[in-house]
Amino acid sequence: TAQSAGKGVLAGKTVLVTSGPTHEPIDPVRYLANRSSGRQGHAIAAAAASAGARVTLVSGPVSIPDPAGVTVVRVETAREMLAAVEAALPADIAVFAAAVGDWRPAETRGGKIKKDGAAVPPLTLVENPDILATIAGRIKARPPLVVGFAAETDDVLDNARKKLAKKGCDLLVANDVSHEGGVMGGVENTVHLLARDGALDTWPRLGKDEVGKRLVARFAEILSAMPG
Ligand code: CTP
Ligand code: CA
Repeated sequence: TAQSAGKGVLAGKTVLVTSGPTHEPIDPVRYLANRSSGRQGHAIAAAAASAGARVTLVSGPVSIPDPAGVTVVRVETAREMLAAVEAALPADIAVFAAAVGDWRPAETRGGKIKKDGAAVPPLTLVENPDILATIAGRIKARPPLVVGFAAETDDVLDNARKKLAKKGCDLLVANDVSHEGGVMGGVENTVHLLARDGALDTWPRLGKDEVGKRLVARFAEILSAMPG
């Protein structure tokens, strides 16, 4: 339930959240995507709004409803997501929960690629911008608390530690998305919270809504402990 302005642990704060997959078009009818449902990012946005924050949710294409009390900006591609994130700054907290497509087709065909003809069409990929690393590395208007996610199938903690350093974020939420876990697209999540100073927290398997609430409570603690 949304709280009225002025109440809650994030009252007066602004929060930016990315959520969902991206779609990277091949032609007008085909795209590259991934299994993200947007549930975890949307749950964080909803929890932040309930905690009194002004929330902008930049979401890729998802089939779940918009959270209440949140400004939703819909995008399709990674490049659109980066532009929407930059337009939504400044923010006190930026949470990058989206499963951003790492690559996009080098060219998007204006017309549907037809099957007639002998050869299978080649698909050349180019790398997308890294939204989290771009924002975490900003000098101007860098959010004081930048939170990244890590989707890993193997060596979860090891990869997460490397990712935290590489991306330059303050906090990393690592989850195991191996197929058995059923996290990607599912309703539950087992997360490890890694801080820049090496502190590690592992939470039990929880519903994504509960993970969202706990994360927001943690963000509020970290923010209130910051000088200024
Ligand atoms: N991320 C992003 N922009 C990208 C790729 C990832 O903002 N182009 C963000 C995600 O939202 C997440 C974090 O970076 O917060 C880590 O995403 P992940 O896919 O786990 O890491 P990558 O750096 O893309 O590495 P890899 O997929 O190879 O593990
Ligand atoms: Ca990736």
